[in-house]
Amino acid sequence: MAQDSLTVTDNRTNQTYTVPITKGAVRAMDFRQIKTGPEDFGLMTYDPAFLNTASCQSSITFIDGDRGILRYRGYPIEVLAEHCTFLEVAYLVLFGELPTEKELKNWVTEITYHTMLHETTKKFMEGFRHDAHPMAMLVSTVAALSTFYPEARDIQDPNNRLLQIKRLIGKMPSIAAMSYRHSLGFPYAYPDNDLSYPENFMNMLWRMVEPKYVATPALARALDILFILHADHEQNCSANAMRSVGSSHADPYLATAAAAAALSGPLHGGANEEVLKMLDEIGSQDNVPAYVKKVKEGHGKLMGFGHRIYKNYDPRAKIIKWTAERVFQVTGRNAKLDIALELERIALEDDYFIKRKLYPNVDFYSGIIYQAMGFKPEMFTVLFAIPRTVGWLAQWQEMLTDPEQKIARPRQVYTGHEVREFVPMEKRTPMAVSANSR
Ligand code: CMC
Repeated sequence: MAQDSLTVTDNRTNQTYTVPITKGAVRAMDFRQIKTGPEDFGLMTYDPAFLNTASCQSSITFIDGDRGILRYRGYPIEVLAEHCTFLEVAYLVLFGELPTEKELKNWVTEITYHTMLHETTKKFMEGFRHDAHPMAMLVSTVAALSTFYPEARDIQDPNNRLLQIKRLIGKMPSIAAMSYRHSLGFPYAYPDNDLSYPENFMNMLWRMVEPKYVATPALARALDILFILHADHEQNCSANAMRSVGSSHADPYLATAAAAAALSGPLHGGANEEVLKMLDEIGSQDNVPAYVKKVKEGHGKLMGFGHRIYKNYDPRAKIIKWTAERVFQVTGRNAKLDIALELERIALEDDYFIKRKLYPNVDFYSGIIYQAMGFKPEMFTVLFAIPRTVGWLAQWQEMLTDPEQKIARPRQVYTGHEVREFVPMEKRTPMAVSANSR
């Protein structure tokens, strides 16, 4: 018998089955043969929220959550953050190798070529209320790109796919900046293609009447590092949404909009905005112990803490802490940092957090930097979505070119009624539940 295998006995039938183990996993479909009789559908695996189910094989990002390791295509995140630009890392994430000087130059030119938005996007944006959440505007506008590029539906053509990938990476900062300026009532600023990716984004955000926007180099570099840290994170909620929607062969703009919608939730990318609200609510260092006590008693969560995969310090949070110091040298120290540091200190010494292995995640410190740079908290998740677009697109490509992948369609364990007699209207009784639970 092969060593890399699993033997199970079905106690209902006393039958024994052996299934192969490959790369530490068994195939759920190998269990379908386990039946009590010819009429039986076969055994399924039940895994709500995918706690222990791999939905794909991937060579993009590696995480060792117990040791706090994150690598893109084999390169440690710390090394990439120190030595690369975001577009260099985007190339790596998408194509698997770091670009040569010439490849990078071409890549930057190609992305820069796609920074402009169709002029009617302005009108579309103007339709949003002045207080619309920038993340909702971003999601809707990314979906609307599908109306400008109908050829994107041809997802089988690699060249066509690549064109849409470049467009999305080029246009995300432009859409993000537009949603930001819309919420402030400022006129939209056009891209300046002489500038680097982060500088151009800053230009579209903050240029007012000056003829040429000049970014503070330390802030542009900090933003670029933050983009690198957020570029991909394997099969998280939004990547899973991208793969799932993309598996129906929806076009990449619609799939990216779906992924961005998944990112917006407070348990995922929306947590960075929630962290700032939480620090505001705590108000001062002295109030931290009382706040932690409240969380331990089950009232809310420490936002920016905990992770499905990391049971150790999130390596991105470490880099962000270090980047924050550089930003504060320019902007002055954000007073919320002291509350955050105290919160981290108290939580990391507390049994509740130690036992559950809850550490600060990427969202814990990023908002403090963003705020120091002048962003409103509502923009924080939008800042996450710009670089994560690269990861979503890499995951999308990998899914489409994987011969094992099909339309994503989970099974369910049905818990409803057996077939019932139809009840005519006059014989129906009101439901004994409140309207809220319907
Ligand atoms: N504060 C207090 N308790 C927590 C927290 C937290 N932030 N996170 C988890 N727990 C507790 C949870 O109540 C549970 O306790 P018990 O065993 O007594 O029921 C235990 O820890 C395990 O938590 P879980 O909910 O089973 O963990 P999960 O893997 O399903 O959830 C998470 C992961 C990130 C959704 C969760 O930790 C959380 O809600 N954190 C706060 C939101 C946040 O910061 N999200 C950003 C995640 S990182 C960036 C990203 O993905 O975008």
